Amino acid sequence: MRQTLVMGNWKLNGSKTMVHELISALKAPAADAASVAVAVCPPVLFLGQAEAELAGSPIALGAQDADINTSGAFTGENSPAMYKEFGVKYVLVGHSERRTLHNESDAVVAAKFAAVLEQNLVPVLCIGETLEQFEAGETQAVVERQLQAVIDRCGMEALGRAVIAYEPVWAIGTGKTATPEIAQGVHSAIRQFLAAQSATVAAGVQILYGGSVKGDSAAGLFAMEDIDGALVGGAALKADEFAAIIRAGA
Ligand code: G3P
Repeated sequence: MRQTLVMGNWKLNGSKTMVHELISALKAPAADAASVAVAVCPPVLFLGQAEAELAGSPIALGAQDADINTSGAFTGENSPAMYKEFGVKYVLVGHSERRTLHNESDAVVAAKFAAVLEQNLVPVLCIGETLEQFEAGETQAVVERQLQAVIDRCGMEALGRAVIAYEPVWAIGTGKTATPEIAQGVHSAIRQFLAAQSATVAAGVQILYGGSVKGDSAAGLFAMEDIDGALVGGAALKADEFAAIIRAGA
């Protein structure tokens, strides 16, 4: 009942040529895998081009971050209201690279989540533990803290209008994918945590896995009951790999 969602996070990668070539190559696999929802999140500079290239395709557009303000004296920022003009549907909030490299606290992430929802866009709330926290057995406490910060700020129903992406930091860009069993264990615990606050939201919310997902590891992950798709970094930059991940979800 929860649709599989495969999202590509291009991070700080891209060029006009790449946007054209990658999107052109993904249109057919995305259209063939009609049961899978597909989205790409290019850098903001390429949103306009990506919107034009995606015309007529089922692939949705996402952004990688957003400011909490709609407009004003905030040099260098981009707002959810601006994204709407480019047909953006999804906005990542709280990616671990933002939390770590830009010192985004749980409170900042929650404010961004609220700002995205305010424009009726879909926040993709990224959560996950570091290697140190994983080894200390703190995974569940960390993801619950990250989720609760958003619930406290926006309410439980707001999560029902969002997507959650569990991305263990130790698996991002390292080639170390969490095994389907490890990921399923965390996803299931996340759903149980949410269910204690709203059974409806818990049952409906898509929980994606992210962290070194590749064409050959996707099917095993998607076979798990509580894994509803993937947020893909490196493999999203290669048309063949990303197409294989999309096909694995069909
Ligand atoms: O947001 C996607 C992500 O951080 C995973 O990146 O390169 O490990 O697939 P990667």
